[in-house]
Amino acid sequence: MNLTDRVVVITGGAGGIGAALARRFAAEGAAAVVLADLDARATAAVAATVGPVARGVAVDAADEGQVRDLVADTERRYGRIDLFCANAGVATGVGIEAPDADWDRAWRVNVLAHVYAARAVLPGMLARGGGHLMHTCSAAGVLTAVGDAPYTATKHAAVGLAEWLAVTYRDQGIRVSALCPQGVDTPMLADGLATGHLAARVIAASGPVLTPDQVADAAVAGLAEERFLILPHPEVAGYALRRAQDPDGWQAGLRKLVRRLRAADPPPA
Ligand SMILES: NC(=O)c1ccc[n+]([C@@H]2O[C@H](COP(=O)([O-])OP(=O)(O)OC[C@H]3O[C@@H](n4cnc5c(N)ncnc54)[C@H](O)[C@@H]3O)[C@@H](O)[C@H]2O)c1
Repeated sequence: MNLTDRVVVITGGAGGIGAALARRFAAEGAAAVVLADLDARATAAVAATVGPVARGVAVDAADEGQVRDLVADTERRYGRIDLFCANAGVATGVGIEAPDADWDRAWRVNVLAHVYAARAVLPGMLARGGGHLMHTCSAAGVLTAVGDAPYTATKHAAVGLAEWLAVTYRDQGIRVSALCPQGVDTPMLADGLATGHLAARVIAASGPVLTPDQVADAAVAGLAEERFLILPHPEVAGYALRRAQDPDGWQAGLRKLVRRLRAADPPPA
C-alpha cells in the first residue's frame, strides 16, 4: 500500500508512535488521518500539529461500541477506511503478580481492541474488495519482555491474532501487518529508563532505542511492500530465528543478560 490519497485511522494517536505514523502518513499524501485516543484535548492538539488532513477524536479503543462508532463516523465522512492502525497499547512493568485489573486492561487494550477494530472495519473493506490492517504489536510479541508478564502474554496474543487475520482474509483482498519494534523513545519506555526499571534496561541493552519517526519510516516501507512482519529493528529477526531453533539456548542467553544488568546495577535494598 502506498499512502497517497488514503483514509487512515490510528488508535493511540495522541503521542509516541501513533503521532509519528500520523505525521509520516500526512507527508506521504494521505487524504485523511483520524487520530483516536483517550484524551480528547491531547488528541486534537496532536492532530493540529499534523495538519489539515488530520482529525483528533476521543475513543477508548478497548470499548467495542466506541470503535464501531469511530469506524462508522469515518466511513460517513470520507467514504471508506483504507488503513486501520490498531496502535494503542499499554505496558504494566510487572510480573505475574500484576493485579487482575492490570491483566484485564492489558488484554483489553493490547488484544481485544484489535478484535474490535477488525470486526468494525472488515465489513466495509471486504465490500470494497480491499484494505489494510496494521497492528502495532511489539518485539515482545515474538520474543519476551523481561519484567512484564502481561505485556509479553498479550503481545504474543496480538501477533497470533494478526497472523490469523492475515491467513483468513488475504485471498479476499485484505492485507495485515504486525508492526513489531523493540525499544522506541516514547513515554512507555522513557519512563522505565528514567527509573532504571529492569524491563527498560533489557530493551535498551538489546538494540538501539529508535525514535518514533524511525518506526514510522519502517512502517511506511513495510506497508509499501505489503509485508506481514514489520521489524524496525532488523536484529529482531535474528533473535526470533535463534529462539525458534534453540529455545533453551535463547533463554539462557537472555538470563545471562539479565544477570549482567542486575550485577552492574543491583536494585535498591
Ligand atoms: N515504546 C516502545 O518501546 C514500544 C516498543 C514496542 C511496541 N510498542 C507499542 O507501540 C504502541 C504505541 O506505544 P508508544 O510507544 O507510542 O507509547 P505511548 O504510551 O506514547 O502511546 C500509547 C498511546 O496509546 C493510548 N492508549 C492507551 N490505552 C488506550 C485506549 N484504551 N484507547 C485509546 N488509546 C489508548 C495512550 O493514551 C497513548 O497515547 C503500543 O501498542 C506499544 O505497546 C512500543
